[in-house]
Amino acid sequence: MVYRVLSILLTVILVSCSKNRPIKAVALNQIIPAPTRVTSSDGTLLVTKHIKLHSPSDFDLSHRFLVGFLTANGYTVTDAAPQESQWIFKQDSTLAQEAYALEISDNQLVLRAATDRGLFYGLQSLRQLMPEALEESNGHPVSFYLPTGTIQDAPAFTYRGMHLDVGRHFFGPEDIKTYLDYLALLKMNYFHWHLTEDQGWRIEIKAFPRLTSHGSIRSETLIGHYNDEPQRFDAQPYGGFYTQEEIKEIVAYAAERHITVVPEIELPGHAQAAISAYPELGCTLEPVPVATKWGVFEEVYCPKSETFDFLETVLSEVMDLFPGPYLHIGGDEAPKTHWAQCAQCQKLMRQENLNNEEALQSYFISRIERFANNHGKQIIGWDEILEGGLAPNATVMSWRGTEGGIQAAKQKHDVIMTPTSHCYFDYYQSDRPEEPLAIGGYLPLKKVYGYRPIPHELTPQERTHILGAQGNVWTEYMPTFEQVEYMIFPRILALSEVVWHGASDAVEVQYPEFLTRVERFNRRLDALGANYANHLYQLESALSTNTKLPLYSLFSPLKDKVIKYSLNQGPFKTYTDPVVLSQTTQIKAQLYDGAQAVGPLLEETFTYHFGVSAALVLSPEPHSSYNAGGAGALINGRRGDPMRYGDNEWLGFWGDDLAIDLNLRAALPVKTLNLYFYHAPGQWINAPRAVALTMTDANGQTHTKNISIDTPENNGVFPLSIDLSNRALGPLKHLKVQVVNHGIIGDGAQGAGQKSWTFIDEIELL
Ligand code: ACM
Ligand code: ZN
Repeated sequence: MVYRVLSILLTVILVSCSKNRPIKAVALNQIIPAPTRVTSSDGTLLVTKHIKLHSPSDFDLSHRFLVGFLTANGYTVTDAAPQESQWIFKQDSTLAQEAYALEISDNQLVLRAATDRGLFYGLQSLRQLMPEALEESNGHPVSFYLPTGTIQDAPAFTYRGMHLDVGRHFFGPEDIKTYLDYLALLKMNYFHWHLTEDQGWRIEIKAFPRLTSHGSIRSETLIGHYNDEPQRFDAQPYGGFYTQEEIKEIVAYAAERHITVVPEIELPGHAQAAISAYPELGCTLEPVPVATKWGVFEEVYCPKSETFDFLETVLSEVMDLFPGPYLHIGGDEAPKTHWAQCAQCQKLMRQENLNNEEALQSYFISRIERFANNHGKQIIGWDEILEGGLAPNATVMSWRGTEGGIQAAKQKHDVIMTPTSHCYFDYYQSDRPEEPLAIGGYLPLKKVYGYRPIPHELTPQERTHILGAQGNVWTEYMPTFEQVEYMIFPRILALSEVVWHGASDAVEVQYPEFLTRVERFNRRLDALGANYANHLYQLESALSTNTKLPLYSLFSPLKDKVIKYSLNQGPFKTYTDPVVLSQTTQIKAQLYDGAQAVGPLLEETFTYHFGVSAALVLSPEPHSSYNAGGAGALINGRRGDPMRYGDNEWLGFWGDDLAIDLNLRAALPVKTLNLYFYHAPGQWINAPRAVALTMTDANGQTHTKNISIDTPENNGVFPLSIDLSNRALGPLKHLKVQVVNHGIIGDGAQGAGQKSWTFIDEIELL
């Protein structure tokens, strides 16, 4: 009996001791975005539940943030004189506006900055050194040790942004605040709030109540993917909007976190919800519904005086709500079909000497810009505002690649980079089949991490116009805020590092180290309750075809793990070196952490064909945004994914015809050529117009064949199978494939007037 009591007592003592023992906090080298300079030393600084803090009055917002963060966890923070304080904030005007310096020693923590903003960023770093449990704000203070060392830090870019489309799906004020919390944690400083869309007007405008009473509600919503045939709808009304009081509260919440909100009011296009509420704003005066599916619609504002009166009233209310310097006026994807047929539009064009409808759009934007400038605001527009001439002071958001940004910077305009290829977080982030439905495209974490916002084409002077970059979150396929979280995490971590840390070109070296930080950061996201995507344990594979026999390799970016694989249902073996594959082979592979399988099983088939291991010359090179697999991807026995046209297999060519020259390793009895293209007009990707073949046998005899191509009926992969059998030729030694690009996109289609993309993968010879 005595023994039992003693033993229970001992257990209680042990448990309570270990519970009270200070927790080791997070190492200095784990912070995201990585600071400019970090030095670590061996010591620790003990933090207990009573903290004495000295903070000069210049740091009110930061002080409030820190006290809020700590008291939510049950700590008490007492203001004290510097000599009595364990934590000290110091004003240091030698530092840059957004910079901070943190020094942690065995007995003191000193955080210096010139501004409250700089100090706030220092606090976000300090916060990331504290135990993850503090993100739970659970009122239970724990003692912990901070690591000792120093950090000197300042951002590479002044614009570090995230966008959110609340038109396609609506997220309430609490979700928006959570979004802002994520931005703050990652030292991002602009929130681009996309408030109006064809599918819903989301901001209360007192002068025009029908914008929200009618324009915020659509009768139903598309189910599944836009490209599904037939399209299906849910028969459920959908709506939501922010009152002006809610907007003010959110803007204030952002300001407390040093985030500037950039409101976007789309014009002249993406305006169907507004025109549905007030049909007199359009060219035709016909009633139209709030849109129920995605895409680009022909209902655009008619540039008549009633429309400008309307827009000026709307924008006045908007500018009063958002104190920041910028007003985003959209400008993208505005079809000109109605303008071309509208008597009022045509009359205005004659009066103003405007030669075409692009010039009319430029007139429209310039007129709105004058109004905004007169009210002290700078406009931002999507890169279509370059067409027909840029409004004099506009900042350009380059989204259709980087060309718009380059042009604008050369015209001495400020630029924010948001190219689809690296900044569209609505694209797929993984090629796993279980990935939730997305709009299409492929933007894995590594591609975001490797993004460099400054185009090489610019001179040092022009480069100063690149303010930074922004991740865009279009929500057609994100009906819930959990899905938004899934799509932003972890890609926002990579982007925050791109815009804060800036980076060298040594992506291959830095990326594995970044991933170890992401792995740790996920614990913080767990504590925050964020629904992040985790593809860290996903294996990647590659087939190298520039060797005599094709070599298959497996990779994990995490270097401390083991890969096991099996061929054709055989036993699993530990992977060490690339494997020769000289026939069609089924492969399975799994990542192990010690004896524990982690991540999904990789299953794929390598399809052997005569083209594998041919010498291949491609002209021109694929576009730098869509060349991940290199030319060899065309003949590596693996086809591009049916949804992810930007994956490691597909090669993209913008406007160019292409020539593919295949020299087979021997004369081979090829009977069929299968070419796979991508066809998605909504993304400006079109199947080619024609393919021309030149076949040559071992004796130098040639035969040519021309195939013209009709527009495919279905979107997605477009297979083209061509019979190569020809009795006049011996076995095939050499094949030249010329592919004729679709050309300029025609009127009425999405991207009208733009160059078409050709996407190709793979070239199979059977
Ligand atoms: C855009 O993605 N339409 C700017
Ligand atoms: Zn008109």
